[in-house]
Amino acid sequence: MAVALVTGASTGIGKATALRLARDPGTELVLVARREELLRELADSLPCPATYVAVDLTDDDVPQRVRAHLEAEHGGALHLLVNNAGAAWRGSFAETGYANVHRHMELNFDAVVRLTEALLPLLRKAAPSAIVNVASTAGRVSRARTGAYSASKFALIGWTDSLYAEEKALGVHVGMVLPGFVRTEGFPATELREKALTRWIVSEPETVAEAIHQCGPGGRAERYVPRPYGAAAALRILAPSLVRRVLSGGAASNLTTSTAADQDQGSNPG
Ligand SMILES: NC(=O)c1ccc[n+]([C@@H]2O[C@H](COP(=O)([O-])OP(=O)(O)OC[C@H]3O[C@@H](n4cnc5c(N)ncnc54)[C@H](OP(=O)(O)O)[C@@H]3O)[C@@H](O)[C@H]2O)c1
Repeated sequence: MAVALVTGASTGIGKATALRLARDPGTELVLVARREELLRELADSLPCPATYVAVDLTDDDVPQRVRAHLEAEHGGALHLLVNNAGAAWRGSFAETGYANVHRHMELNFDAVVRLTEALLPLLRKAAPSAIVNVASTAGRVSRARTGAYSASKFALIGWTDSLYAEEKALGVHVGMVLPGFVRTEGFPATELREKALTRWIVSEPETVAEAIHQCGPGGRAERYVPRPYGAAAALRILAPSLVRRVLSGGAASNLTTSTAADQDQGSNPG
């Protein structure tokens, strides 16, 4: 039996990951996100035992509440933690300022660190076990109007590499997945899917779910989805001037797609 907890499981990559993990014999799932109705529907539809915790991951007491749930409902067992919940609000630094950086860090970085801190003792106890952090290709290459999002994912990547080195000897594998454009509720990539020229660069959440499986139970260190996006990361190191020139050109603005969070709350943090 393996207990796996997936954050951001109500939609998109997290939901696809829950469905993928549920196919492994003996899996028990814990689904975490804010929308209880979606979590309940998913838990009821899965072919394996599943519980859920409907919480906002940025709330102070949430890491301890999630841990208490694991202790009460799953005997304190945890074999896989998938830190996937995240969001992006577009806008230039001049328009959105520190407030936008802060809200990205709060969800995409601080919440991951705080939940991992609370659950690491359970993962160590259950070793061999694994953590998979869902970063982004935007955590290697930054574009205009995505600086706050990129900053949170760059931070997550740096911290993940360090945690991998620290926990390896204790049997907790720390993997990382770096998706490019993936069609989800939060990141619909409408601008790219509308054009034949760019449609092909948009992946499906199920492809990322498979990569998460490879970097968790499969023991891989990291995966770009799709794989060729790794070339952008390599170029950023090898030819920084070229990458900066290309990404600040007019055509590159097409690569900053609008997000659901933009539509829900506007680009400017309230
Ligand atoms: N799709 C892409 O193009 C792409 C590319 C690179 C990286 N990523 C990363 O992939 C991850 C998943 O994104 P996705 O594309 O699957 O988008 P999504 O469909 O919008 O999923 C985001 C998930 O996070 C949950 N969430 C958001 N804020 C939360 C909060 N404060 N507390 C608890 N849960 C919260 C949402 O559920 P509730 O609203 O129910 O809380 C939802 O389940 C994110 O970390 C994202 O940065 C996505």
